[in-house]
Amino acid sequence: MADSDIDEIGPWSEVKLDIVREYAQAYSQILSAQNKPRLQHVYIDAFAGAGVHLSRSTREYVPGSPLNALNVNPPFTEYHFIDINQARVGALQQVAQQRANVFVHDGDCNQVLLEKVFPKVQFKDYRRGLCLLDPYGLHLDWQVIYTAGQMKSVEIFLNFPIMDMNMNVLKHNPEVVPSEQAQRMTRFWGDESWKASAYSTTGNLFGYEEKTDNETITNAFRMRLLNVAGFKHVSQPLAMRNSRDAVVYYLFFASPKPVALQIVKDIFKKHEKRL
Ligand SMILES: C[S@@+](CC[C@H](N)C(=O)[O-])C[C@H]1O[C@@H](n2cnc3c(N)ncnc32)[C@H](O)[C@@H]1O
Repeated sequence: MADSDIDEIGPWSEVKLDIVREYAQAYSQILSAQNKPRLQHVYIDAFAGAGVHLSRSTREYVPGSPLNALNVNPPFTEYHFIDINQARVGALQQVAQQRANVFVHDGDCNQVLLEKVFPKVQFKDYRRGLCLLDPYGLHLDWQVIYTAGQMKSVEIFLNFPIMDMNMNVLKHNPEVVPSEQAQRMTRFWGDESWKASAYSTTGNLFGYEEKTDNETITNAFRMRLLNVAGFKHVSQPLAMRNSRDAVVYYLFFASPKPVALQIVKDIFKKHEKRL
């Protein structure tokens, strides 16, 4: 793989990797210990990346989320890694080392998840899944989030790409936003209700639309995860900040299980001081 296919990652991405790795470890331990009924548990990395990154702070290579998942012990029953970039798919195949329980998918995860992967994680088949949805920006389709919520067998970590939203869609003057950018937001959010959360007319005497803040937007999205997608338990979002203290994205966790949320809250608490 060429160096250009390896992402250089900031400290906040290393925090995300640690959070997901620690939770995957706890999840696999708990699910492996279940006997009645015996459950099979699946790790899904939808925007998987190359499997290795270059740390901006140490200049060393660090394992990406797929490699971290493969190192979990006891292991998951099955792994699914998806990427749309051919070179990265090749790198993931090397990481998988032809293990029979590791499936590398080449394509758009919005399609691959719904058509090939989620059908293998059905509640009725005693299968459960941990799914990382970690796009660079607004590249995820709400249908994926909604389906995961409805399945009751899938937990998600979700990268909520606020920087892409703020730079390209949530402009102070909504009239200057190109329609294709607004459509990207609608696709991620699931409908046009983001407009009511992102703009308010009550803050001024003249009734014109003013942009709300990140907190209002993430709160509204959290409510969608609960009330529309149907996840029973959703974390408060963890703000992933860069060295200039700007929020690059928010990390959400959503699950059908209260104990899962409690474990993630503890992991968030442990790592939030690093951000
Ligand atoms: C932020 S990186 C993933 C990092 C990885 N989760 C980690 O922490 O090690 C996003 C990846 O998503 C891939 N990607 C972008 N759009 C995609 C899509 N529609 N389906 C699948 N992969 C996609 C990119 O090629 C890139 O490798």
